[in-house]
Amino acid sequence: MEREELKKLAGEKAVEHIEDGMIVGLGTGSTVEYTLRKLGTLVRDGLKIKGIPTSIHTQRIAKEEKIPLTTLEENPVIDITIDGADEVDSDINLIKGGGGALLREKVIAFNSKKVIIVIDDSKVVKALGIDFPLPVEVVKFGWTSTKKTLEDFGCNVELRKIMGEEPFITDNSNYILDCEFERIAEPEQLEIDMNNTPGVVENGLFIGLVDEVIVGGKQGILTLDKESVV
Ligand code: 5RP
Repeated sequence: MEREELKKLAGEKAVEHIEDGMIVGLGTGSTVEYTLRKLGTLVRDGLKIKGIPTSIHTQRIAKEEKIPLTTLEENPVIDITIDGADEVDSDINLIKGGGGALLREKVIAFNSKKVIIVIDDSKVVKALGIDFPLPVEVVKFGWTSTKKTLEDFGCNVELRKIMGEEPFITDNSNYILDCEFERIAEPEQLEIDMNNTPGVVENGLFIGLVDEVIVGGKQGILTLDKESVV
């Protein structure tokens, strides 16, 4: 099966967790877009939910799909969030932020009773950071100094750019610094230490936030959850 089919398999499977009356966190990315499109058909068939988007891009898709939207201010507790990921390790910890939406994604995941991640099997890794750089959202002010401080964590740091030209700007008007490690040995500690760096708004490590990962693979769907973590 092509990668796109595996993403579709996982993305569409996730809607089975969504029930009438739920407040649903709507993730960002090409895999969860399959969830959003499928959810749109269910909503048009009568499913009553309200969504809270994790990005302006996702808000646009939700509007196209006529999914009713609300805000965290109106509904501070989210029943379930479905989102994608860039890497998932054996403890179901994640790297997120490849699409630059990590800040809103983390706020929404943190305020959710249940978090489900949808990925294709290429995202399952032995250790975080080997294949994918860790995205860190930083304020523009003093970003070159913040970059130097982040390099002290043992990584190469690049300012994210669009088409190699202009800096990428997040939905919160910040920059993204992509931090390339050989591997992240202690993700729990790194998450805390990076967020203690002045200028850092949030980093893309999602530690202990996830309940279930739906993996689309060549053999079909595989589910990883807290019980399967050893
Ligand atoms: C956006 C994210 C995405 O969920 C992540 O990049 C996965 O995206 P895709 O499903 O397109 O590979 O964290 O900030």
